[in-house]
Amino acid sequence: SFELIAERSGRRFIVPPGKSPAQVLLDAGIDVPVSCEQGICGTCLCDVLEGTPDHRDLIQSDEEKASNKQIALCCSRSLTPVLRIDL
Ligand code: FES
Repeated sequence: SFELIAERSGRRFIVPPGKSPAQVLLDAGIDVPVSCEQGICGTCLCDVLEGTPDHRDLIQSDEEKASNKQIALCCSRSLTPVLRIDL
């Protein structure tokens, strides 16, 4: 699990191993744009402000993943204990 901080919403969450960040945010009533929920459409891409995503999407290139500027919230996780996103 890891801590997810939704910066603009001013809220923080624990994302358990079996859930995606998008699921946790949606369960809490935070509006996350999602479509395919399989990491292929890019709808759920969100800017990363702090932390390193564990990229599990297929939409970003290797270069984009290595830059760690965005995370696909429908499928990815975090390599760092805290991930702060622009949402
Ligand atoms: Fe399609 Fe996340 S909803 S990549």
